[in-house]
Amino acid sequence: MAEVKDFKTVKVEKDQGIAWVILNRPEKRNAMNPQLHYDMLEALTELEVDKDSKVVVITGAGPSWCAGQDLREYFRGTDTNPVERRKASWASQEWRWRRLFTFPKPTIAMVNGFCFGGAFTPLIACDFAIAAEDAIFGLSEINWGIFPGGLVSRVLADAMCYRDAMWYIMTGDPFDGKKAAELKLINYAVPKEQLRDETVKLAKKLMEKNPQVLRAAKEVFKYCRNMDYNQAEEYMSAKGTALRLTDPEKGRETGMKQFLDEKTYRPGLGAYNREAK
Ligand code: ACO
Repeated sequence: MAEVKDFKTVKVEKDQGIAWVILNRPEKRNAMNPQLHYDMLEALTELEVDKDSKVVVITGAGPSWCAGQDLREYFRGTDTNPVERRKASWASQEWRWRRLFTFPKPTIAMVNGFCFGGAFTPLIACDFAIAAEDAIFGLSEINWGIFPGGLVSRVLADAMCYRDAMWYIMTGDPFDGKKAAELKLINYAVPKEQLRDETVKLAKKLMEKNPQVLRAAKEVFKYCRNMDYNQAEEYMSAKGTALRLTDPEKGRETGMKQFLDEKTYRPGLGAYNREAK
């Protein structure tokens, strides 16, 4: 039975190791107002250390994943309130990028519908993204007088090729889930009725892996992207040593024992037996 926690604008449902984090302002297409930023920060902070949550899925209530920043409450509503603007802007950057990008557990964006503007930041921060084929994506900022800010342009440079990014930034053309998969902005798109099952399938695959190693693997890849080769080598060496010392499963030793001594598995074809002593 799923355990549910309601924040004002976000709902978290925990079921069989998956934490479903649901942006929950369907009447506003899950546009991000300041409250949603505060709620997401709190929800993610709790999930970081929640033992029952192995994989985090971010999705949206109703027909939208997230319609970007709330034009009324996030922008116009804080124009004359610099303190609230600062607080909201900090929380917005903190959860959408800094927390999510290197979240200690695997993260999946399950894009059920509209995904616009500022929603691209958490989309790209997640480790995986699966969308409904008919979901609509768009860098709509150009259509109402701003450019993709708040880190969107920066993270796009990592996630899209130069020509595609320039096209969508400068035209604001919307595109669907199938096109998003073709552009490699997401992993793949499926018919909407299969979206949840496909997401669960991926989450279950991830839950079979050693969680400590999964965490280190994503951190190494994500942090090393901006290091030079010497720094990356040094960082990975230190990280590898730390992992061997702190991995409660002693996965490296177990895997080698099962392959080399016991000859019970093939590491190229599957995971070592995590239950074996
Ligand atoms: N900010 C504030 N309110 C929004 C936003 C938003 N980003 N998106 C939707 N809403 C509100 C609408 O104002 C409307 O509110 P109302 O019922 O009080 O009038 C409600 O959500 C429903 O919106 P509709 O437009 O009626 O819904 P529809 O399903 O027809 O269209 C769509 C959805 C395409 C998402 C449309 O609302 C839209 O274009 N929204 C803006 C998307 C956008 O450009 N986002 C980027 C913002 S900029 C940034 O993120 C940096």
